[in-house]
Amino acid sequence: MANEGEKEAAGRAGATLVRDGDVVGLGTGSTAYFAVVALGERVKAGLKIIGIPTSVQTADLARAVGIPLTTLDEHPEIDITIDGADEVDPQLRLIKGGGGALLREKVVASASKKVIVVADSAKIVPVLGKFPLPVEVISFARTVVEKKIVALGALPKLRTKPDGSPYLTDNGNPILDCSFGEIDDPPALALALSNIPGIVEHGLFIGLAKLALIGKESFVEEIRA
Ligand code: A5P
Repeated sequence: MANEGEKEAAGRAGATLVRDGDVVGLGTGSTAYFAVVALGERVKAGLKIIGIPTSVQTADLARAVGIPLTTLDEHPEIDITIDGADEVDPQLRLIKGGGGALLREKVVASASKKVIVVADSAKIVPVLGKFPLPVEVISFARTVVEKKIVALGALPKLRTKPDGSPYLTDNGNPILDCSFGEIDDPPALALALSNIPGIVEHGLFIGLAKLALIGKESFVEEIRA
């Protein structure tokens, strides 16, 4: 599949930017997967790094490929984070959270000196919003938050598992996938969502990524913010 090749090329390109001694934020998803695998190969070849995973899934993968792990309490400053995205706009504003890890991903990104986005070419959009925006909420507040999100102009849909029960994040919270359509002013929407009590975090990542590595059919394009 073309996208798999693009994801692998982007993920592997991201892994080459990690240097000896780095504390590395390890993203979540099918593109970050390739970065973690490539980092595991570099560790086996002698690279000394320590990783901070953004999900249980990534922690399991990192352990399996031999990357030593630490916590944000031990290392609250991260040198470089490599993570995927569901949408990337020309200013490197992102929608993230398709894999449900948005909260830990945003905490890790916010604690990082450098955030590198790795993605396939299908993730590049002129305007964010075609991908439903993931919003993590506390269960207690779900209905109240849904009404407020509807008032902001979106259709929120509770994310469910294949058996129909609510999907819960690694933090034990449900996710509302919110179809806003084109988001004309991402910073304004980010602020409006952050001001709603009961929302734990939303998937708009603004001003965090400085470099995106985008897999194209036969090369990896660099986009800088
Ligand atoms: C995980 O919660 C997400 O933020 C992912 O980074 C995002 O969904 C991109 O995933 P893929 O690389 O699998 O498309």
